[in-house]
This record gives sequence, structure tokens and C-alpha cells, in this order.
Amino acid sequence: MIKKFFLKRNFQTEILSNNEVRPINLMPGPKGFLGLGTILNYVKPFGSIDWDQLHILGMERYKKYGPIVCEKIMPGASVVWLYDPVDISKVLTDTPGNLPCRRSHLALEKFRYDRPEVYSSGGLLPTNGEKWWELRSQFQKHISSPKNVRNILPSTNQVTREFIEMLASKFDANNTIQDMVTEFDRFSFEMTCLIAFDERMYSFSESERHPNSISSRLIKAGDDTSCSVLSTDNDLQLWRLFETASYRKLRVAQEYMQQIAIDFVDKRAAKQTDGDSLLDQYLKNPNLSKKDLIGISSDFLLAGVHTVSFSSAFALYHIAKNKRVQELMHEEAIKVLPSNESEITTPIMNNEIPYTRAVLKEVFRLNPISIGVGRISNQDMVLGGYLIPKNTRIVTQNYISCRLDEYFPKPLQFIPERWIKINREKSNINPYLVIPFGQGMRSCIARRFAEQTMLVFLLRLLREYKIEWKGIENLGILTKLINRPNSDVTIKFEKRF
Ligand code: HEM
Repeated sequence: MIKKFFLKRNFQTEILSNNEVRPINLMPGPKGFLGLGTILNYVKPFGSIDWDQLHILGMERYKKYGPIVCEKIMPGASVVWLYDPVDISKVLTDTPGNLPCRRSHLALEKFRYDRPEVYSSGGLLPTNGEKWWELRSQFQKHISSPKNVRNILPSTNQVTREFIEMLASKFDANNTIQDMVTEFDRFSFEMTCLIAFDERMYSFSESERHPNSISSRLIKAGDDTSCSVLSTDNDLQLWRLFETASYRKLRVAQEYMQQIAIDFVDKRAAKQTDGDSLLDQYLKNPNLSKKDLIGISSDFLLAGVHTVSFSSAFALYHIAKNKRVQELMHEEAIKVLPSNESEITTPIMNNEIPYTRAVLKEVFRLNPISIGVGRISNQDMVLGGYLIPKNTRIVTQNYISCRLDEYFPKPLQFIPERWIKINREKSNINPYLVIPFGQGMRSCIARRFAEQTMLVFLLRLLREYKIEWKGIENLGILTKLINRPNSDVTIKFEKRF
């Protein structure tokens, strides 16, 4: 019967060699007490699942159930966990006429829909369907354009120089910074405001370090929102009926972010300059309203800061622990930067830093900032021999797959050479394994900016300093929507002459 159904829909190639495509309810995976679903396992005080340790759960489930797992959350609602890159590629490959859908940031969507006088939609992060594409197609024209990314390179150099100079003022008596995450939060906040609003916030200054400064409050607001998203997306959603503690945290944070986003947009609109910043380009776009701009400004403030900050912190962890890698990076850095004052130019970025790029890719293999990519299937499909109906929630488990020896030799070792073209291994790596920015039409809208920011930072820092790891032996993660280091990122710096 099922076979007939597929043949009719042209899925012949998907049918297993024994001609069997199994229904989703036969897929292995946790079904909860009496088969009623696992939802209570996630709700304190009933359940034991720790939101901060989803990567451990991901590995346990892989070992117990295999490369495709169906978790029954409650009757009628299941989530499929995918580990096999062939299946992952099927879910993330865009197909004509089907827009990619994601289920996330539901409480943020409610916050915005409750304020129609401020927002035109839930914004890019939670919105799906035609409305999402309406926004995305307009916003990406500007932020994803290589020209805009190139244009910001001189100011990226400048801010990075200032940041590295400032770091020296934070060294303790042993030339050590106890926790680089706090510093990176400020760096990525500064870069996000520069990219999105063409504004310098001087967030490295002493006055901005005060907890009541704009930068401190916005960094905290982004963090509070992100920390509330995972639980509000996956709990019983009582926040739709009354204000739960998680929703309150998100609301307070978002009210502040909204106020600053409005200020940025108003200030820029009042200037009426012929400027070419991202916000200027959005303001000139007749297809975008002021409400759209407030939404995207908040999205940038929310998505831009901790992503770059935590990724940079993980990069320093791996580089500081690998002296050989660090020396090769330094060699590349002095080749392209004859002095600490030299500029990193577009040709350098495009062609002359293969090793630094390979290092960043290896950082993202071992420490992507998300466990994987979430989607709602937008058509019936066959994954791992099972029929996955349209509208099923799917979460790819790239963090786990990238640590399996099925896919990478010596998977837990930091080996950037895997990504250098002349090595044969590179061509054998499935491109759907390391996808830190997601994949396809719905992937990160600011990928080019984020990569450029991190590469410029790594080149300039490694040109100027030797770094040594002083934190705990093995740095782990906490899965709070954006994976963050589970302990201080402590680095000792030694100036090179
Ligand atoms: C290392 C840095 C970053 C990483 C690893 C990262 C990763 C991601 C990922 C995994 C997604 C979801 C993609 C998908 O579903 O396929 C995403 C979406 C998004 N990111 Fe980033 N991101 C980074 C930096 C940034 C920055 C700097 C900004 C803004 C200034 C930003 C803005 C966004 C937005 C607005 C979306 C939603 C796009 C949509 O749904 O259409 N991200 N990012």
C-alpha cells in the first residue's frame, strides 16, 4: 500500500532494496511513559532532561537508536532527529515552490504580534511562508551582498585593531584574561552595530562597561532572550495564557531591545543623508516599512552578538591548545600583514588566507554554535527508509555527527588540514556535515559579515600575540539555543616582536 503511494508520487528511488518504506511510527526513539510522549521529561520538577546538556542526550540517542530517531513529544507531535548527512541534505536542499520553514522563537513572535503598532510581523527568525520570503528577499539583497561586506572591511580592521589594543589593558599580572567571552561580547556587539546601523558604540570603553550602559543592557537583553527561547519553544506554552517566568524574562529583554532599535531607525531616518550604510539602504527600499526595519534591527541585535562571541571564544580555545596550528597561522598572518598596522584587504580575504579559513572551518566542525538546523518538512519525504509526512518537525544533529568516526578520521582532534584542498580527505567529506550557518535559502543572512569579522580578528591577533590556554582541560558546552562555553575561556597572551 505504502509502496503504491510512493510510486504514484515518483519516489521510486527512495524505496529500500527490500521494497519497503516504513511509516514514521515504526521509527525507533523515545515515546515517553505509556507511549504518551516525552514532554514532561523536559518540564521541571517532573523531568530529568537538562536543557543545557542536549548534546549529551543527542549522543546517547544516536548510540541507542541509530542515525534517525523519532521522539514522540505528545500524542500527534513528534520530532525527528537526523544524524546521517545524506538525510540531512534531503531536508536542507531547497526545492522549487517549497519555502524552508523553521519552528523557533515562538515567544518572540507572540511578543511582536502583541505590538502591531511597532512590528509588521514576527520578524525573520520565527516567520514562515510567503511573509518570511517577502522580508528575507528584501533584507538579503543588502546584507548578503559581497559589495557591502567588502565596504565594511576597512572599519572592521579599525575596530579589530582597537579591540586588540584594548585587550592589553585587561591583562592581569600574568598577562592573562580570565574570561574572553565578556570581551568578545563587546567586540561582536560593536561589530553588529557597525554592520547593521553604521554606528560606533565605543563599547570597549570603561563607561560602557557599567551595567546600565546601552551596550551592557543590550548584550544582556540578547542573552536573556536567547536563553528563554529554547524553553518557551519546547515547554507546554502556558505563556500563551499567562506570563510565565521564561516569557517575562524575554519580554523585559525585548522591550529594551525594541526601544533601542526604534532609536537607531529614527535617528538614521532623521539624518536624511545620502549614506550607503545597511540601514540607509533599507530606509531607501520602498518595499520595506519602518515597522519592518524595527523588526530586522532587533533581529540583528539578537542574532549578531553571542553567535560571533561564542564562536570566537571556541576558536581561541582550540588555537591556544594547538601550538603547531598556531605557528602556521602566525606564518600566514605575517605574510599578509607585514606589520601590525597593515590593512587586511579584499584580495587577501579572498585568496591569501587558506590556512586561517581552514582553522575556522575546523572550529565550526567541533564547536558549531547550534546543535543542528531545525526545519518543518514542507513536503512528504523519505528519510532513512521512513516516510516523513509534511509538517513534521526535524532537527539535524550536526554537532554529534561531526564528532563521529564514521564521518571524520580522528574526529575529536583539531586538524585544520582536513580542509586544505590538496588533501584527499576534503573531497570525501559530505558538505552537509559542517554547516554552522545552516543551509539553503534560510541559512544565516549575515554569514559573510560574520566570517569576515572572525577571520580579520584571528589574523590580527595571531600576527601580534602567542596565546596559551589556561582554562579547564577540556572545554565543553552548554546548549542554551546558542552553544556557549561551559567554563571560563582563560587565555595567556605573549607579545611577539
Ligand atoms: C559565527 C556567527 C554566526 C553563526 C554561526 C550563525 C548561525 C546561524 C544559523 C545556524 C542560522 C539558522 C540557519 C538555518 O535555519 O538554516 C542563522 C540564522 C540567522 N542569523 Fe546567523 N549566525 C551568525 C552570525 C549572525 C550575525 C552576525 C547576524 C546579524 C547581524 C545573524 C543574523 C541571523 C538572522 C537574522 C537569521 C535568521 C535568518 C532567516 O530565518 O531567514 N547571524 N544564523
